[in-house]
Amino acid sequence: MKVGVVGLGTMGAGIAQISVQAGHETVGREVTSELGERGRATIERYLRRGVEKGRMSQDDRDAALARLSLTTELADLADCDLVIEAVLEELDLKRQVFTELDRVTRPDAVLATNTSALSVSEIAEATEHPERVVGMHFFNPAPVLPLVEIVRTAKSSDAAVDTAYDWAEQAGKQPVRCNDTPGFLVNRILIPLLNDCVRVLDEADVPPEDLDKAMTNGAGWPLGPCALIDLIGIDVHVHASEALHGKLGEAQMAPPERLVRMQQEGRLGRKSGQGFYRY
Ligand SMILES: NC(=O)c1ccc[n+]([C@@H]2O[C@H](COP(=O)([O-])OP(=O)(O)OC[C@H]3O[C@@H](n4cnc5c(N)ncnc54)[C@H](O)[C@@H]3O)[C@@H](O)[C@H]2O)c1
Repeated sequence: MKVGVVGLGTMGAGIAQISVQAGHETVGREVTSELGERGRATIERYLRRGVEKGRMSQDDRDAALARLSLTTELADLADCDLVIEAVLEELDLKRQVFTELDRVTRPDAVLATNTSALSVSEIAEATEHPERVVGMHFFNPAPVLPLVEIVRTAKSSDAAVDTAYDWAEQAGKQPVRCNDTPGFLVNRILIPLLNDCVRVLDEADVPPEDLDKAMTNGAGWPLGPCALIDLIGIDVHVHASEALHGKLGEAQMAPPERLVRMQQEGRLGRKSGQGFYRY
């Protein structure tokens, strides 16, 4: 199967890595060749680490990297069987990308979006073949976290859903089918739950360390809520909260004031060196 990945940022690079490791010829499309090379360098780095840790051989790494090609033109995805889009979380941009993909790819190619919080149906409406559009929602870091939510819209065909599901499964992932409802499965539950955890910090006046200690030891969570939000990224979490709140209007969906403040102060979690914890 030939696979296209549109956008080689955090998610796209991870998805392209999964694809080449699963044995697929993969074309990564970035807006500039510099960004494309940066995406390739990210994949190289992770694969090198895989070799160092004994998870893969040098030959397998070289073969995987050789399956990746780069382009700046969507037209170069014309002969792909599956295209996964991972550009910025902006509806207009994603719709533009899908209109163009619909035009340049074969009519039987499956087009998937990795959106976290936008409606897959609204993205699919930008095409003339919405039956071949599905969501493939990976989790960050994509090569590490097994879940992929395979999102079906009212118009998705069984064939498109099955292609996406089978592809994810063959790549060693744990796909789950779901409908195109706001937040799909995991974020619909996790976002209001984590927001509640942050509100409890202030209500109960406990430090993040104690809340994390409570939830790991009392509820069996593998990671405390504050450590988890730091890992997700405060900005990513706030953005997803706002999107879900906009769609569902439930009070728990709205980002807590404390998180909005952290975002404004640039305390974005692990990636900025400081969130609830210092890194
Ligand atoms: N980061 C996460 O935790 C996470 C998890 C699951 C899903 N997602 C979703 O994945 C998608 C990408 O998120 P990310 O975290 O990888 O973002 P990112 O900022 O790392 O990457 C964004 C990508 O969009 C591309 N881009 C920017 N402007 C563009 C334009 N005008 N035209 C075409 N491409 C353009 C960039 O070149 C880059 O490849 C979003 O829809 C996001 O909601 C993110």
